[in-house]
Amino acid sequence: MKRNLLSIGLFLFLLNSCSQMSQKSLDEKTSDNMVVAEKQMNRQLQLIDESGNIQYPRTVTENKIEYVPIDDWTSGFFPGSLWYMYKLTGDSKWEKLAEKYTENLDSVKYLTSHHDIGFIIKASYGNGYQITKKEAYKAVIIQSAKSLATRFRPVPGVIQSWDENHGWQGKRGWMCPVIIDNMMNLELLFEATNLTGDSTYRNMAISHANATMANHFRKDFSCYHVVDYDKIKGGVRGKCTAQGYSDESSWARGQAWALYGFAVCYRETKDPKYLELTEKIYKFIFTNKNMPADLVPYWDFNAPNIPNEPRDASAAAVIASALYELSTFGKPEYKETADKIIESLSSPSYLAIVGTNGNFILMHSVGSIPHGNEIDVPLNYADYYYLEALTRKKALEGK
Ligand code: GLY
Repeated sequence: MKRNLLSIGLFLFLLNSCSQMSQKSLDEKTSDNMVVAEKQMNRQLQLIDESGNIQYPRTVTENKIEYVPIDDWTSGFFPGSLWYMYKLTGDSKWEKLAEKYTENLDSVKYLTSHHDIGFIIKASYGNGYQITKKEAYKAVIIQSAKSLATRFRPVPGVIQSWDENHGWQGKRGWMCPVIIDNMMNLELLFEATNLTGDSTYRNMAISHANATMANHFRKDFSCYHVVDYDKIKGGVRGKCTAQGYSDESSWARGQAWALYGFAVCYRETKDPKYLELTEKIYKFIFTNKNMPADLVPYWDFNAPNIPNEPRDASAAAVIASALYELSTFGKPEYKETADKIIESLSSPSYLAIVGTNGNFILMHSVGSIPHGNEIDVPLNYADYYYLEALTRKKALEGK
């Protein structure tokens, strides 16, 4: 009897030690990825400093780091990553750098040639205003929302994403193309109303979200990439893809933008229909037979040669970040899913070795396969949403 009790005691002791070890190794992994993130961001900044200019790294093309002009849709992600480095480390060095790379984007506030001013300004000035409460940042956010509002088309009730003559229309002849990515630009409009009390911006965002909800989704709650509206008579002219495998396929980052965008709509309106939609999108993504075990999706859920297709770490990072937010809206189990994604992205399969990968943090993302652009490369927005996800995870865990 005594021996039996001793054995049970020993067993429980070993079990407890093992669980402490696995917890410890998880925490160690988190600090490892922060070491990589800090070193990679430092190296990136050093290279930019050596060039003598303020530059915005986007990706690696033919072994060279590609920098983008400030009106590129991705220009805000590098300053945005700097803001998250500040939040994650508390080191004021990152805050100073984030200010420098944000404030150089000032003239973007007048950009009206595409919808992506929302991405650019939210990542840079949006994060900056949340942290610093600088009045000058607030003014940029409001002016940027005014610029985005010029693209609102009242008859169909949507923000026009791309101009009619966008190079990706092919022979289709678009009139008012709206891409699912546009859901990400609504946050800027909600923020402008929160800052000014003028409900015009918020009403546009809600109108756009409702049209997207009605027209972008299929019966299984996967979504189309592009819906083209008639801006004179109203109604839908056509549905297709630009960056997915086919018009009827489910482009992975598109599903990610949808999940994240409607999570923001629920946060800002508390309208339950948006939360219900995120649950359906979640179900599509995580019950999909083509979702790999590590939860980093292939670039398109219907790509023809799965499992021999590139993964898209950027889609995984966007999904993880959205799930951390959604976990606070009565879905605590979503945090476990997000944690699994973060664990995968923080493993050697996706986390860069310091000094490689063009000094970006994550490997294996995809820009646009149909255009032969950015296939299996680092992307600044994969890094940005990964750091955002880590920031949200840390806040949820009270660290
Ligand atoms: N917004 C463009 C993209 O997701 O590639």
